[in-house]
Amino acid sequence: MKQFYLTTPIYYVNAAPHIGHTYTTIAAEVIARLKRAEGYDVVLATGTDEHGQKIERAAKAVGKSPQEFTDLISAEFSKQWTELGLQIDRFKRTTDPEHHKKVQELFLRCQERGFVYKSSYTGAYCVSDELYANEAKPGEPCPICGRPLEEVTEENYFFKLSAFQDRLLELYEAQPDFIQPEIRRNEVLAFVNGGLQDLSISRTSITWGIPVPNEEKHVFYVWFDALTTYMSAVEGEGRWPADLHLIGKEILRFHAVFWPAFLMAADWPLPKQIFAHGWLLFENDKMSKSKGNLLRATPITNVVGIDALRYFLLREVVFGSDGNFSLDALVARYNADLANGLGNLTSRTLTMIKQYREGKVPDVPVLDAVAAQIAATQQQAKAHYARFEFSKALESIWALIGFLDKLIMEEKPWVLAKTGEAARLDTVLTSTYRALQVICDLAHPAIPASIDKIRAQMGQDGQVGDLTPVFPRLDAKLVIPQMQELEQAELARQNALLGKTPEVEPAAAEVSAVSPLSPEITIDDFVKVDLRVGLVISAEAVKGADKLLHLKVDIGEAEPRNIVAGIAKAYAPETLVNRKVVIVANLAPRKLRGIESKGMIVAASLEGGSPVLAAFLEEVPVGARLK
Ligand code: MSP
Repeated sequence: MKQFYLTTPIYYVNAAPHIGHTYTTIAAEVIARLKRAEGYDVVLATGTDEHGQKIERAAKAVGKSPQEFTDLISAEFSKQWTELGLQIDRFKRTTDPEHHKKVQELFLRCQERGFVYKSSYTGAYCVSDELYANEAKPGEPCPICGRPLEEVTEENYFFKLSAFQDRLLELYEAQPDFIQPEIRRNEVLAFVNGGLQDLSISRTSITWGIPVPNEEKHVFYVWFDALTTYMSAVEGEGRWPADLHLIGKEILRFHAVFWPAFLMAADWPLPKQIFAHGWLLFENDKMSKSKGNLLRATPITNVVGIDALRYFLLREVVFGSDGNFSLDALVARYNADLANGLGNLTSRTLTMIKQYREGKVPDVPVLDAVAAQIAATQQQAKAHYARFEFSKALESIWALIGFLDKLIMEEKPWVLAKTGEAARLDTVLTSTYRALQVICDLAHPAIPASIDKIRAQMGQDGQVGDLTPVFPRLDAKLVIPQMQELEQAELARQNALLGKTPEVEPAAAEVSAVSPLSPEITIDDFVKVDLRVGLVISAEAVKGADKLLHLKVDIGEAEPRNIVAGIAKAYAPETLVNRKVVIVANLAPRKLRGIESKGMIVAASLEGGSPVLAAFLEEVPVGARLK
């Protein structure tokens, strides 16, 4: 049997799984299903990347040992894939001793062949990307992630990456589809053409890693360690080389340059293809921990089902490009394509067969026009799937659904039944039924659980089974708040699991005095708050209240507003007149010491210190809204 081995990246355990990880894993699982349907013996591997300073720091931030911490989060990942019903064949952790052996073997082979040497490095280093930034200075932003670089001095083992420039270029030339899509291939070509510098592959500044053989102080650089999982995950199974590494575009260089070079140095076979997909953006912004805009998958799937999410991600996002994620769009897609489209066609077709033919599918040939449409759809969908063009594949399958809807409208089986045109009715019913079978075959890799349900209702031996709606319509007003509520609960659960500040980013770790953040809100929540630029017209002390000032603030309305603010200890009234401030303009009025206060002044409130008013460095017009 032909084999097909594909991988997802192994995910860092410095945070619990979120929808970005789920995106890659779902895409990989769809490809695995497609290949299985083509008759391949498929293995899909994923796992967790557990070593390095970033993880060490994340563990420390929550008062756990690295091992305790990684055990906990790695389990979250494997549990997540099970909960989502994703069929994963191998789950490899970099803390697995078998994996350690493989990394050491890779190193020794590179060393034996003269591609490794020892040298010392002083300079800038990015903890987050675990990368030496040879051309930048400490304190400058990391060229990859933009976080400030730190200074390190270390004795390292270096890998002679510079020796592989020509061989890599030959590889990209000889196998034009080694890196996909084309735009990513061009990026890599430009990078390699620009020259390659040797790469440090060991660290002495950290202990949480795989030891370098015969070296007490050195552990392997995380990427040397992590990439090797692709081999250790199938060690001894005769499945290497991988047919496909599916990754996000931000880790392309590691996969398309470093990894093949390591393998060339070790004289091991190279993977056949690397496909880098785009980012899933949350309302046009990159999802990120520091922005706090991550969504978890299970709060979504527990409300609308896994196939709603699978379908949305595959249909809405052009695979390879960035795409937007939003719950509104998810619900809209579901209702249009699944409830109205496929769901409706299924129920109409099967109900009519029940009603007019006692559930028995007539054994007559399919209409020529339908047969032609089926053949065209099969050909198109398969061609798109083969190029991982999921959205186009689904689009062509859904075009067949549209075609059948139209056919039913035109043929009007309910009229044929009344007027006794039995032969034509048989043909129409059979044609729709057979086409629906093909739709099921083609859509199965994308939405397997729902298609299994449809197939059960379509019955066996041409006898339709019991009917229940597979895609009940969703009411956005109902389900979106439900998903958001579950998201909060899931976030709280993860926080509890991880200690109080699980989302600590290495670069932000220094800001340890920050009080815990309020629960996450959506942009919709935020825009409810109307913040305006105001000009203070007058300010005076409030009698009998030593903390309060009574201000009149102009925000461009007919009259200035009365605002009572607790800033008397920090600001003398006369210093405020003519000053521009930020006010919350739509706050419900409140009476303080007999004065009705209409709004609140925004200030940084420091623990145990005085408030500091928000202000602008540039000129801003009175009344301007902040958002
Ligand atoms: N541990 C490394 C990978 C080592 S592979 C030998 C790593 N881990 S990660 O946890 O940061 O995962 C990155 C991957 O998760 C991306 O390459 C992508 O596959 C997926 N995604 C994470 N966030 C994502 C989005 N917002 N959108 C799309 N994919 C995302 O890098």
